Amino acid sequence: MSKQEVILCHELAESLMQAIDGCPHDRLFILTDEHTHRLCLPRLKEIPAISQAEEIVIGAEDVNKTLESLASVWQVLSQKGATRHSLLLNLGGGMVTDLGGFAAATFKRGISYINIPTTLLAMVDASVGGKTGINFNGLKNEIGAFAPARSVLLETEFLRSLDDRNFFSGYAEMLKHGLISTRTHLNELLAFDTEKIDYSLLKGLVGRSVSVKEEIVEQDPKEHGIRKALNLGHTVGHAFESLALAEKRPVLHGYAVAWGLVCELYLSYIKCNFPKDTMRAVIQFIKENYGAFAFNCKQYEQLYELMTHDKKNSAGVINFTLLKGVGDICLNQTADKESIFEMFDFYRECMGV
Ligand code: GLY
Repeated sequence: MSKQEVILCHELAESLMQAIDGCPHDRLFILTDEHTHRLCLPRLKEIPAISQAEEIVIGAEDVNKTLESLASVWQVLSQKGATRHSLLLNLGGGMVTDLGGFAAATFKRGISYINIPTTLLAMVDASVGGKTGINFNGLKNEIGAFAPARSVLLETEFLRSLDDRNFFSGYAEMLKHGLISTRTHLNELLAFDTEKIDYSLLKGLVGRSVSVKEEIVEQDPKEHGIRKALNLGHTVGHAFESLALAEKRPVLHGYAVAWGLVCELYLSYIKCNFPKDTMRAVIQFIKENYGAFAFNCKQYEQLYELMTHDKKNSAGVINFTLLKGVGDICLNQTADKESIFEMFDFYRECMGV
């Protein structure tokens, strides 16, 4: 898998023109969802190549990350004469970059694409690292492929219009990157004033956060080993996300990850001796900024069951990424049911639910 270039833009138009020029193509297509078509695409229209590009617009949000939306993208590519040498630009959040990346990976066995993420979650996670796909059969990201973008252009000016919930959703993945990298990076994330955002500071944090992911993906693009570090918080987080969805009180992905981090830091503490003061500091940050996901002890079995279905498991054994310390990663950890239930007790007690 070739390495993708990730650019923290000073001037998006300039970086985009360079990225397009660096990727010879016959026709140019730009995929947006209904929101980014209205709110973000006008910012790129001054670029001559963009004003002439064929536009493809799909419905917004995860409910549209479907085979039908994917087919509608293939349909336009096909009808408008895309060839193997065409180029697709994906302008949007993680739904657009995942689905657009998969459309590009599969159309005529693969065309080049460039990601321009517009949400924090997409900037620090979804758009980087080559995971593409769609939801299928009620399962998230069930169908997909590893196919890196040629370039990922990070324009943090888009973040100024992000609502609080989407800001914090992305920030949870940044906290995860802090935990799996260095104490310095974790501390600057915990110290960041989330009530009065300094966007130039945030830009620096985004750059450092994404480079944590890039470095890991470069070592292990297809997740055979160290890339599993990026799953910290996700084994429990996905179970919370699924329970919330089943109970028709859906939560944003990053919120589920933040609450998953609370649980998995506790497991790290009891199983790997993760320092208690660092665990407490991260939990405090999460409690203050994310609130808590409420559940009771009657739902432990259901959460446990959901965790056994996580696609990262093998042979029915629940797989966790845990930590001995900040940046000191323990892959392929497991825990028995008793420890998992004790972890839920801890979560409810410290989060006050
Ligand atoms: N979102 C985790 C990964 O890209 O591996």
